[in-house]
Amino acid sequence: MPQSDPGRAPVGIFDSGVGGLTVAAAVAQRLPAERLLYVADNAYAPYGPRPAAEIRARSLAATDYLLERGAKLIVVACNTATSLAIDELRERYPAVPFVGLEPAVKPTARAARVGVLATAATLASRRYHDLRARYLAGKTVYEDDCAALVPLIENGRPGDPALTAELRRILRPMLDGGLDALVLGCTHYPLATAEIAELCGPAVDIIDPSPAAARQVERVLTTRALLSPDPPGTCVRAHVFVTTGSALPLQRTLLRLPPLNRRRKWVVPRVAIG
Ligand code: DGL
Repeated sequence: MPQSDPGRAPVGIFDSGVGGLTVAAAVAQRLPAERLLYVADNAYAPYGPRPAAEIRARSLAATDYLLERGAKLIVVACNTATSLAIDELRERYPAVPFVGLEPAVKPTARAARVGVLATAATLASRRYHDLRARYLAGKTVYEDDCAALVPLIENGRPGDPALTAELRRILRPMLDGGLDALVLGCTHYPLATAEIAELCGPAVDIIDPSPAAARQVERVLTTRALLSPDPPGTCVRAHVFVTTGSALPLQRTLLRLPPLNRRRKWVVPRVAIG
């Protein structure tokens, strides 16, 4: 939909499911005047075990949906989609600003032993291999594709014993070997930060990239003169969250993220995308 003032267009955000809400919350916290349009591709979650071509096709479908509705910037709030699709998206839409999420290995500079939690598709990607070669060379690196974690986070609740048991299984070998920093390389995992921190203890630095992603969104909107002109709190238009599946995971997760509950919101289930 064409906007009279491009700054009033929504920030488009997508993920395979609820994980990208951790990024959306960081954006809403940092930029409270911005209106968000969020796509959760729950009908296709998790992306991690899917073939690269399918992850690219779903990323393109979500991007098209957001652009058709006037999004002024696209946040690929999914490490898996960023790893496999962001280059293609940028090539297809050279005029559109994209902000992606990648396993935040750069801030682990001072850590000797680094754990990386990410999906199988992310860990297998060329982008991640390049990051690892650049920032993790010479360190002890533990990786886990956390195959069961995304479905547990999509369907579970905080304090779910199955989630804690799975995290314990993933983290035990890393903690036994000695761990200085743990990179949450999938946007779903910060939703389990309390459980992860409890298992890791205070000596492990847990790295959630969503505040850095929100800063990058601010930088790009500023550079392109696309920041919302509305003073925070004066714009009554709602954030919109659509999902290709059931609304339940979105509704449950939104309640846990206060920055996303400070203005009206619509949750629209079973939207056909792509
Ligand atoms: N939240 C996503 C990521 O950051 C995707 C997880 C999945 O669907 O497998 O990688």
